[in-house]
Amino acid sequence: MTIRVCVFDAYGTLFDVSAAARIAAEQPGREALAEVWPVLAEDWRRKQLEYSWLRAVTGDHVSFWQVTQDGLDWALEKAGLDDPELRELLLALYWELAAYKEVPMMLAQLKARGLSCAILSNGSRDMLEGAVDHSGVGLYLDAILSVDDVGIFKPAKAVYDMVGAKFGCAPDEVLFVSSNGWDAAGASAYGFQTVWVNRAGLPMDRLMAHPAHVLTDLTTIPELV
Ligand code: LAC
Repeated sequence: MTIRVCVFDAYGTLFDVSAAARIAAEQPGREALAEVWPVLAEDWRRKQLEYSWLRAVTGDHVSFWQVTQDGLDWALEKAGLDDPELRELLLALYWELAAYKEVPMMLAQLKARGLSCAILSNGSRDMLEGAVDHSGVGLYLDAILSVDDVGIFKPAKAVYDMVGAKFGCAPDEVLFVSSNGWDAAGASAYGFQTVWVNRAGLPMDRLMAHPAHVLTDLTTIPELV
């Protein structure tokens, strides 16, 4: 089936989620963070995601901004960093995450081929708009689809349904791209054609379905469509 729409996960896929802790650690006076920032960034991300899944299972939905703050608070406490100013800095940086360097060119190539491009993310709409504005990739995007509109997080099917509702396409006309193995699995089971961007060289997740393609970054996405 011909691909008509390319849909991207946001955090970790288009935007570098470790950038907030890395940039904060480079600031003068942040020696305590500089010692632990990779572990802090990983703990923050893992708790953010765990809280999103658990809230999807129980139906106790809150915004992604809330689980992002809750995950950070857990990670800061584990790291022994009781520093409200650092907390505010890390949260502020999360609204300005850089896009991976290949993103603008890759999106420009997809648009040149006549495809529609969109973000489908667990992110809150305002967080996503902040990251898109800051990275300057908004001109390539036909839609920013946030779970705010369905009140449950991926990999719930209601989230993937938003793509067909927006673009009037069948699932197999969608190329869905995510750096999250669990998201690529959920989207594959849903019926999207899928790419898992495995930047870290992780093992394949043992879940309900496998992605059709595995890449190490986004550069060659246009060759798939
Ligand atoms: C997202 C997170 C889960 O953007 O990466 O949906």
